[in-house]
Amino acid sequence: MRELTPTTTVSAREAFGIDTDLMVPAFEQAEEHVPEVDPAYLFDHDTTLALLAGFARNRRVLVQGLHGTGKSTHVEQVAARLRWPCVRVNLDGHLTRLDLIGRDTVVVEEGRQVTRFVEGIVPWSLQRPVALLLDEYDAGRPDVMFVLQRLLERDGKLTLMDQSTVLRPHPAFRMFATSNTVGLGDTLGLYHGANRLNHAQLDRWNIVTTLDYLEPDREVAIVTARVPELADRGDLVRRMVEVAALTRRGFAAGDISALMSPRTVITWAENIAIFGDIATAFRLTFVNKCAQDERELVAEYYQRCFDDELATPAARPA
Ligand SMILES: Nc1ncnc2c1ncn2[C@@H]1O[C@H](COP(=O)(O)OP(=O)(O)OP(=O)(O)O)[C@@H](O)[C@H]1O
Ligand SMILES: [Mg+2]
Repeated sequence: MRELTPTTTVSAREAFGIDTDLMVPAFEQAEEHVPEVDPAYLFDHDTTLALLAGFARNRRVLVQGLHGTGKSTHVEQVAARLRWPCVRVNLDGHLTRLDLIGRDTVVVEEGRQVTRFVEGIVPWSLQRPVALLLDEYDAGRPDVMFVLQRLLERDGKLTLMDQSTVLRPHPAFRMFATSNTVGLGDTLGLYHGANRLNHAQLDRWNIVTTLDYLEPDREVAIVTARVPELADRGDLVRRMVEVAALTRRGFAAGDISALMSPRTVITWAENIAIFGDIATAFRLTFVNKCAQDERELVAEYYQRCFDDELATPAARPA
């Protein structure tokens, strides 16, 4: 990594298209850990401001929200535009303390086998100008999460017990996380594998921002930006977003147990481009993921928005 601290600034208005005069520190050159810029990405005002506070003012920012709303990609795309190196770690249930901290490993040096401590992703990032993104934060195992406890404090140092060393964070080290739940475990029945979070740890996140479902206009804009084949079919995309909104309302009312995320709508749009047929693509993208006895209701949502019958396998004549 050539530059050690940000040496330039970018205008948040120009880089992210959000309404603010904020100038944010950035790097001049992109190195290999900087995520690739996605030119079609549309930034959410509040989420982006929260993330920019994280980068500019060294705040620990947790982005929470339902699945497929753009949490992980928001962090990456903000980092991409600031040319800030960013490393994403998925905190799945199998990640161990040793994966994060490091372990003694046998290596060959000058033809001899020797044991060396190979640092894990946390000490590695901590000593560099890197934004560490802890993705799926609520899926992490509670014992593993305690490794992170002290790092969440400003200037939190990391003690490597086996090495008897204390690591100081690099001035441009940053930490972000995304989660589907707010630390209470899976209250919706949607996020199997989400753990309850320790509140002493949750308390250490300086900023918690929520990215749930978006305004219909924004969702339409995101889908058409993602799937240019549908760019001139705004009316179709609007109806698709309406179907998704109905599934979300149906879910909130307890009528169905699955809902369409913005990611599902994007996938549906991509599948329309592949199959050339709206209804077929809808069945293959979403209906087949729903419980058998809920498919009729989902077909009704489709019928309401498209004014067209959706033949579900259950409804088809034998
Ligand atoms: N604002 C946006 N502009 C363009 N594309 C977006 C936007 N938000 C989301 N997307 C697209 O939607 C998809 C889902 O985004 P992402 O993976 O970031 O969601 P997530 O909130 O992290 O989901 P999960 O909770 O399942 O991890 C991606 O393909 C992403 O490119
Ligand atoms: Mg994600």
